[in-house]
Amino acid sequence: MKAVRIHKYGGLETLIYEDAPMPVAGADEVLIKITAASVNPVDWKIREGHMKEGLKIHFPFILGWDVSGVIESVGAVVTRFAAGDKVYARADTSRNGSYAEYMVVRAAEVAFAPDSIPLNFAAAVPLAAQTAWAGLFEQGNLHSGQTVLIHGASGGVGVFAVQLARIAKAHVIAVTSTKNVDFVKALGADKVIDYTKNDFSTLVKNVTLVFDTIGGETQKKSWGVIKKGGLLVSTVGADQKAAEQHSVHAKSFMVNSNGARLQEISGLVDDNRLKVIIEKEFALKDIKAAHKLSEEGHVRGKIIINV
Ligand SMILES: NC(=O)c1ccc[n+]([C@@H]2O[C@H](COP(=O)([O-])OP(=O)(O)OC[C@H]3O[C@@H](n4cnc5c(N)ncnc54)[C@H](OP(=O)(O)O)[C@@H]3O)[C@@H](O)[C@H]2O)c1
Repeated sequence: MKAVRIHKYGGLETLIYEDAPMPVAGADEVLIKITAASVNPVDWKIREGHMKEGLKIHFPFILGWDVSGVIESVGAVVTRFAAGDKVYARADTSRNGSYAEYMVVRAAEVAFAPDSIPLNFAAAVPLAAQTAWAGLFEQGNLHSGQTVLIHGASGGVGVFAVQLARIAKAHVIAVTSTKNVDFVKALGADKVIDYTKNDFSTLVKNVTLVFDTIGGETQKKSWGVIKKGGLLVSTVGADQKAAEQHSVHAKSFMVNSNGARLQEISGLVDDNRLKVIIEKEFALKDIKAAHKLSEEGHVRGKIIINV
């Protein structure tokens, strides 16, 4: 099959479009004929070697773990799926990924793709939406009537976070730049702050939860806007000492892949309550341009890789 593999850590030049062996599904796995992948920042972070201490990979290695496609075959103990099913998943990053024509995924990580959107757009959902869901509800315990401040509201994770928080009937304050203010408002944010014009920390106070997908200065300024005993949940690491100094809590998490959670998300997409936003589509062989765009840090929604 054709795949994009890396043979060592490094820059865009390490992404090689080439022939690779067909994967074979184990007993509790499915083989997916891939329709599309999507790009997440972790793809290029792994490519550049930023995760090599915690994540052991074997070269040559296929990046990309968001996948949508059609089941080609299933392992001996898989009963939930059958050949021909349209599915999607977020797969384990320690194994070969979805920048390829075929991929093997554990059945427990797979869900039926939403019917109401094109199958290639479904690849935009698994990691970003599950991260937003896990961050807000499983880590953040967000409930109706609470106020949540969402940083990076126009990004892959943020777009889902704004919509999910709104579905939960929370009061949503979202931070983005000028070009995305109307867009984020249309997603359902109650209040949108333009970080290029205003300092959110002077406009917001006493929030229950901050959902931080940015880190750095943004996180530093966030401690003061959380009410005493409140919580900051971060996708990029959280400074526990700073949290203690401000008498608030902090959690950093790595989302797990969960087919059941992803199936609930399919339902929200099909009920037209969760929009899937695509910034741009690329062909698999043009993956370098897709990574370059993601690394610039200003994607609205998601980048799709059509296989
Ligand atoms: N821990 C986990 O399990 C997990 C899971 C998924 C993602 N992540 C991490 O979470 C981070 C976000 O992921 P993502 O997929 O959402 O990234 P992304 O799609 O690349 O995010 C891009 C967005 O960030 C916005 N942005 C940049 N600087 C900002 C600022 N100072 N304030 C507010 N918004 C800003 C941009 O909006 P403008 O163009 O308007 O600036 C853009 O829309 C990444 O570092 C990723 O690796 C972690």
